[in-house]
Amino acid sequence: MFDSGFGGLTVARATIDLLPAEHLVYIGDTGRYPYGSKPLRDVRRFSRELAWSLVEDYDAKAIVVACNTATAAGLDDLRNELPVPVIDVVTPGVKALVHTTSTGRVGVIGTVGTIKSGAYVRAIAETGVPVKLTSAACPGFVEFVERGQTTGDEVTVLAERLLAPIRSARVDALLLGCTHYPFLARTIGDVMGVDVTLVSSADETAFAIRTRLSELGLLRADERPGTHRFVSSGDIEVFRELGAQLLGPELDRTERWVPTRG
Ligand code: DGL
Repeated sequence: MFDSGFGGLTVARATIDLLPAEHLVYIGDTGRYPYGSKPLRDVRRFSRELAWSLVEDYDAKAIVVACNTATAAGLDDLRNELPVPVIDVVTPGVKALVHTTSTGRVGVIGTVGTIKSGAYVRAIAETGVPVKLTSAACPGFVEFVERGQTTGDEVTVLAERLLAPIRSARVDALLLGCTHYPFLARTIGDVMGVDVTLVSSADETAFAIRTRLSELGLLRADERPGTHRFVSSGDIEVFRELGAQLLGPELDRTERWVPTRG
């Protein structure tokens, strides 16, 4: 599993809880984050490096792209070239979103890269469910999470400004289309109000992983818990400290990620 930084830990948490027997290797590309403001072609290159490293250096049997921006930038390439199944976060999130709404007015928030790519507009069209989608990019949210600042006045002020178009659209379901955003769910939920259901792709992605591994006969049949390795391209100490705060006790050890191919 990989993400630009800490955001994918929301998917890691859900996966560890749902599939405790699976071995997990998580790479957080904190040395090169944020992805959301970078050209998609750079994000595509980073994603290929990380995914190939998981296959070649860590012997991954499946890859989870725990990052919406990386999914938007390069999912098709990864699916075409990797020798293992690739699971993304956009499809499971959209599935949950269209099931959650009762008014048919839905929202999605994500990074500039994700929203600009149109990945959610396409994914929602593919469901065939007739909903009215309002999207908004939320630059700044990821930076708060990466600093470990998930509540407080500054986050609220920014959320009120960025979420204004979604509030005006009177949506009843809002998809957190960036894996960092569930860490800000209290503030986002507070700003949106009680009538709006927040949908996070983390749990849905964990179910998608279970379904895919089961279909392919790849689920680990073992009573013993799997091992969890956390790898970072940035500052290892920071990753361990903030990662443990965000994910929980499983993140007690971190390793440095060294790219083996470009
Ligand atoms: N967590 C990532 C996502 O889901 C990207 C955050 C970033 O690096 O900008 O889009």
